[in-house]
Amino acid sequence: MSTYLLLLVIALMIINVFVYDNVKKSYISEKEASFLTQANILTTRALLAVEESNSELNHLLLNQMMEEMSRLINGRILVIDSSKTIIYDSYNDMRSMYLEDEQVSRALKGESSTMLYHQTKHGKTMYVAVPMIYFDKILGVVFLSVSLEEVYSRILNVRDFLILISVVTLMLITFISIFLANVISEPIKNLTAAMQSTALGKLNQRVEIGGNDEIGQLARAYNYMSTKLSQIDQQRSDFVANVSHELKTPLSSMKLLAESILLQPDTEKGIYREFLMDIDSEIDRLNEIIESLLAMVDLSEENLNLNFELTYVNYLVEKVVGVIRPLAEKKDIRILVNQWEKIQIYLDQGKVHQALINIIYNAVKYTDVGGRVIITITREGKYAVIKIMDNGIGIAAESLPYIFERFYRVDSARSRKTGGTGLGLSISKQIITLHQGIIDVESQLNVGTTFYIKLPMDNAPHS
Ligand SMILES: Nc1ncnc2c1ncn2[C@@H]1O[C@H](COP(=O)(O)OP(=O)(O)OP(=O)(O)O)[C@@H](O)[C@H]1O
Ligand SMILES: [Mg+2]
Repeated sequence: MSTYLLLLVIALMIINVFVYDNVKKSYISEKEASFLTQANILTTRALLAVEESNSELNHLLLNQMMEEMSRLINGRILVIDSSKTIIYDSYNDMRSMYLEDEQVSRALKGESSTMLYHQTKHGKTMYVAVPMIYFDKILGVVFLSVSLEEVYSRILNVRDFLILISVVTLMLITFISIFLANVISEPIKNLTAAMQSTALGKLNQRVEIGGNDEIGQLARAYNYMSTKLSQIDQQRSDFVANVSHELKTPLSSMKLLAESILLQPDTEKGIYREFLMDIDSEIDRLNEIIESLLAMVDLSEENLNLNFELTYVNYLVEKVVGVIRPLAEKKDIRILVNQWEKIQIYLDQGKVHQALINIIYNAVKYTDVGGRVIITITREGKYAVIKIMDNGIGIAAESLPYIFERFYRVDSARSRKTGGTGLGLSISKQIITLHQGIIDVESQLNVGTTFYIKLPMDNAPHS
């Protein structure tokens, strides 16, 4: 604001000086012009008196006119002949005196002139000298001396008026800018306060700032960020709660199994063995959970460092099927791979391999004995599409939106039997999303499920 006001003061000063200077110049040149005109009018009258110096009437008329004019312009009028002798003086006390003056000399050479002097006695005074020319002969000079004090006092009035206007303007603008500065800085202050308390841990802060200006937009961006932050925070604590819960379940069943062995020292060897096997499988489960968790952390830390390699999607799928086929055969499930063309794209082999394992293994896991899984590899526009279709148990429509969430499992009782953490699809989705790809699902309960993995054809090695 102070910069702004300083600029304003400078601008006002420049304008004032300029206006003042121009007003002054125009007042004075106007006066100059009018005195020159009047002096010229006088010369014609004075000529008659000089020419026919014995004409009493002409002298009388000249006298009369000079007096009138003198009163009119409020100044002294001298008529000087060619020998620089004053032949007429409207104040009468210099008559017949000899006047040596530069302007008079110049006028006698035919040049009109005006000069401005500052006299201690009369203040600002203008001198005007005009030659009296009669048929190319210079017969004398009409010399005016007029006080410009009145003009100057008018000019000073103008200056005072300008100063007054400037001061009033400045005051008005100061008030307006103080007001505006407040209007602008108020929302910024609110935002700052909100941000400070966000920094202190109050995540779901909102600021109420309307308007569509930059500050309104900033406020909306802040509110959006705030909401996101608290969502992320919520997800984080949900995640921690879920993880703890998931880790606790196998731990408590292990504890239960161990305790029952401890409480009955003379248990049969066969039951011992059975309990230990149960404990062993719970340990496997724990391992599985922890591995999935590690995979997830890995993904979120390395998310910008995908190791892109030019890869045939076909071979990658076949490799995964090779891994899963033995498991499928145990359940008498056939896996068919349909492919018509080789599709080569840039992808992170390790990560996409992991995603495919999760999804193809799901297809086998959630399909009953004797079923089939059909995998189709095609190109659709900008995407290489891997379609994984099973004729398994399917997913109910109300569960479908949640299957990509961490730890979500459709039917916990049934899933417990099959084993799993509920992290597989969430990890797969992250991987595909990191590749700028899309993962989609269609399913019908007791009919089957189809997953679509769409990977962009134009991923660059470094993105
Ligand atoms: N092909 C499928 N057919 C039917 N249900 C499925 C299929 N794929 C996934 N689901 C359902 O979605 C849930 C989530 O799958 P996800 O792979 O994330 O977890 P999971 O298989 O239970 O455990 P894991 O972390 O070991 O993969 C599964 O529990 C299952 O209920
Ligand atoms: Mg799974």
